[in-house]
Amino acid sequence: MTNIPATMKAIVLEGHGGMEVLVYHDNWPTPKIESPDEILIKVHACGMNNTDVNTRSGWYSKAVSEATTGGAYDTVDADDPSWGDAPITFPRIQGADIVGTVVAVGSNGDQDLIGKRVMADCWLRDWDNPQDKNSTGYFGSECDGGYAQYTKAHYKNVQAVNSELSDAELATFSCSYTTAESLLNRVDCKEGDSVLITGASGGVGSALIQLAKRRGAKTIAMASEAKHKDVAKFNPTAILPRAPKNLSKALQEAIGQDSVSIVADIAGGEYFPTLIEALERGGRYGTSGAIAGPIVDLDLRTLYLKDLTFHGCTITSTNVFPDLVGYIERGEIKPALAATFPLKDFHAGQQAFIDKKHTGNIVVTLD
Ligand SMILES: NC(=O)c1ccc[n+]([C@@H]2O[C@H](COP(=O)([O-])OP(=O)(O)OC[C@H]3O[C@@H](n4cnc5c(N)ncnc54)[C@H](OP(=O)(O)O)[C@@H]3O)[C@@H](O)[C@H]2O)c1
Repeated sequence: MTNIPATMKAIVLEGHGGMEVLVYHDNWPTPKIESPDEILIKVHACGMNNTDVNTRSGWYSKAVSEATTGGAYDTVDADDPSWGDAPITFPRIQGADIVGTVVAVGSNGDQDLIGKRVMADCWLRDWDNPQDKNSTGYFGSECDGGYAQYTKAHYKNVQAVNSELSDAELATFSCSYTTAESLLNRVDCKEGDSVLITGASGGVGSALIQLAKRRGAKTIAMASEAKHKDVAKFNPTAILPRAPKNLSKALQEAIGQDSVSIVADIAGGEYFPTLIEALERGGRYGTSGAIAGPIVDLDLRTLYLKDLTFHGCTITSTNVFPDLVGYIERGEIKPALAATFPLKDFHAGQQAFIDKKHTGNIVVTLD
């Protein structure tokens, strides 16, 4: 029986604001199993995501209309809604991409899980009605997450992973890759498609390259030129700058066609109309982020006259996480671990994540 300490080290979010509202504690109460469905996990690594930053800053508030900066917004207070359209409660331990060892299991769970290394699905379901998106929460937002030595979850929300990847490498996958896979499902990406990917150097973007390639699609990655060498490691069909002036010409030169069947977008912002113009007739657009700005111009004539289809992609279907674990176990996708930061250096890690000089994912380690 593992000796579980009464208190633990944790990064605690105390409200909306700048980096100062993330406070390091070395004697925060260790979570306890309170329902027969819960398991307790000793966290080894937890990946960083923009949801943490956007929740802290209050970017999800409709009072904010600018690109993600990671800075605080004067217009936001504790009553403003978070990603799920409701305010979150403070104090809160963030962190969704958890990899750890199960140390205790409630009476409804499989006791064989004890001692197993697990990954958590970042989407927390109501397991009486798991397809209900309205009752789905995000790990580290609607309940405490993984920027701490211990966390707890419903036993159905984790899966043991049989892989030689390190804890930190495994912690790159959950949020970015389930988001990317779910987007590709919604736009029905398959062999023969050409997928234009914004933010391709980032967590979701690098996942989109790998997961679209896995399906046999052509991938055109858009990224800052300083990151092209690193993006090339994901082996996309072509790499373009972040926002080419003449996108159709750039596509023609790169892949021999001036339009694409799918745009997989995490950026939005000013370049959005150019992305939409690049879609062929009957093309599909999927968005799971708006890091370059949430308010965009849309010419409705382009949408209806070209028979386009638009998909918003956030909460995944329940099959997506188990599918992802299968891809990892079979070595069909590779982690893109850019850097690790120990919990005590959390603020430096989040600053590096916001500075975006890296390619791939940044992970917090706890051991
Ligand atoms: N809906 C969901 O469930 C969900 C899940 C995960 C993420 N997201 C959202 O998706 C977005 C991307 O997430 P991520 O984890 O991939 O982020 P990330 O790892 O930080 O990568 C974002 C990439 O976007 C590019 N970028 C940054 N600012 C930009 C700008 N102003 N214009 C164009 N490109 C810009 C950067 O690449 P370059 O410097 O190379 O251009 C960066 O590598 C975020 O907004 C996040 O909140 C949503």
